[in-house]
Amino acid sequence: MSASYSFRNVTKVTTHVLQEMKSKGEKIAMLTAYDFSFAKILESTGIDIILVGDSASNVMAGYTSTLPITLNEMIYHASSVVRAVKRALVVVDLPFGTYQGNSKEALNSAIRIMKESGADAVKMEGGKEIIESVDRILSAGIPVMGHLGLTPQSIHKFGTYVVRATNESEAAKLVEDAHLLEKAGCFAIVLEKIPAKLGGQVARELKIPLIGIGAGAEVDGQVLVLHDMLGITMEFSPRFLRRYHNLSEEIKGAVDSYINDIKSLNFPNEREQY
Ligand code: KIV
Repeated sequence: MSASYSFRNVTKVTTHVLQEMKSKGEKIAMLTAYDFSFAKILESTGIDIILVGDSASNVMAGYTSTLPITLNEMIYHASSVVRAVKRALVVVDLPFGTYQGNSKEALNSAIRIMKESGADAVKMEGGKEIIESVDRILSAGIPVMGHLGLTPQSIHKFGTYVVRATNESEAAKLVEDAHLLEKAGCFAIVLEKIPAKLGGQVARELKIPLIGIGAGAEVDGQVLVLHDMLGITMEFSPRFLRRYHNLSEEIKGAVDSYINDIKSLNFPNEREQY
């Protein structure tokens, strides 16, 4: 085993393990999953963190944004994932509308996720604006992952998915928010679609791990949406996305063969019947 894989044998990835990975310079690998079967495959690979992202709203339910997905739907996805996972840390997105306005409601939402799904932590988008909710959830002993930069739950405020924090004042606010989340006690922060230089700066300034998605190579780990990196969803092609496979073409090929076999009386054959 190479030195850069020294945490592969830990039986459970915890927030402490992630902290140690950062201190030892081992990069953290994170992917999304929303169901039992994919989570089981991911778990068998040695992935460090599985995020039950509210991107389920897009890739599982077909909505055009992450806003419509509900707390009950997130709990359904999360509990399906948790049933498949032993080693990876399972983090679940608090969906839009369940934490922004009211810290008591935020705590209730986080408690429901932890109790009903068995996940290890929650993730929340935003900095200063949501710090009261972050504090309250943390004070109940629930680990919180922050999310700064492009925050898809605020898409209607920004109106576009372009790179964030490209000017000085936005970059300064992001750095300030990152420090605020670390001080509050978040165990890690996702940085989405920001300049690589800024990603590196924040990762160096903070002690907790910074996980990037379009935040360059100098952060402490990377996350992608599973369906995007496997080539199941093909309509979304941001620069940061590396496609490792073209699964939609493979699936289409398999289904075409199945249809042809049925139509040509080739399936089922003698051995495939009773
Ligand atoms: O919901 C999600 O999949 C996410 C990732 C893009 C980080 O938040």
